[in-house]
Amino acid sequence: MKVGVFDSGIGGLTVVKSLLEHQLFEEIIYYGDTARVPYGIKDKNTIIRYGLEAVEFFKNFELDLIIVACNTVSAYALNEMREIATCPVYGVVKAGAIATSNSIASKDSNILILGTNATVKSKAYEKQLLKHGFKNIQAKATGLFVPFVEEEIFSGAILEATFTHYFSGIQKPDAVILGCTHFPLITHALQNYFGDSTKLIHSGDAIVEYLEKVFRFDKKFPNPEIKFFASENPDALKSIAKKWLTI
Ligand code: DGL
Repeated sequence: MKVGVFDSGIGGLTVVKSLLEHQLFEEIIYYGDTARVPYGIKDKNTIIRYGLEAVEFFKNFELDLIIVACNTVSAYALNEMREIATCPVYGVVKAGAIATSNSIASKDSNILILGTNATVKSKAYEKQLLKHGFKNIQAKATGLFVPFVEEEIFSGAILEATFTHYFSGIQKPDAVILGCTHFPLITHALQNYFGDSTKLIHSGDAIVEYLEKVFRFDKKFPNPEIKFFASENPDALKSIAKKWLTI
């Protein structure tokens, strides 16, 4: 199968990493809208428009499916993208809620959603989590993590200071949904902050778990062909991909 992976920028590489670890696809076309990132501070109509443009871009490739790695786009634009796409389109929000439900037994558990401003404002995760019976849901927009990750700041005092800034009034969560492509890169620091008893939910692993239920993957592809496209500076995307994916 040939998959298109869409993100607002480089963050979606965390989803590609999960796809590679599970060896699901023969060919991966990655498109990052690096010229217009971040999406998380933009409004609904702009996010939908960018999502639709990504579907048009992918029409050049005869894909079997599109994965919207970007949580912000998944929260706002999936229905519109599906209307114009010539293949199925899957987003990470529903998959993230299912993964939370699969790994957290008690519906009384405290779930903390982290995401961009737009994702948190959309309440897309809340809507999905409520369907699974969760009632104790907190959400926090933590957009500052995005530029930190882009700067490859994955630990240290400056990141710790933002944890204190964002989380000092937060009830200790049983699970944290990493509702932004960039956040898996600070998993280690977040796990240290919240402690080992807090389960972190990774969008990339969640979408893999979800797709494995929807499709029958009979074959593994240990060496898929990956093509990277970006709306600005594709070479920068490729060199980050080399580092983050160690390909
Ligand atoms: N890719 C976005 C997301 O997952 C984060 C970066 C942005 O704001 O565009 O929500």
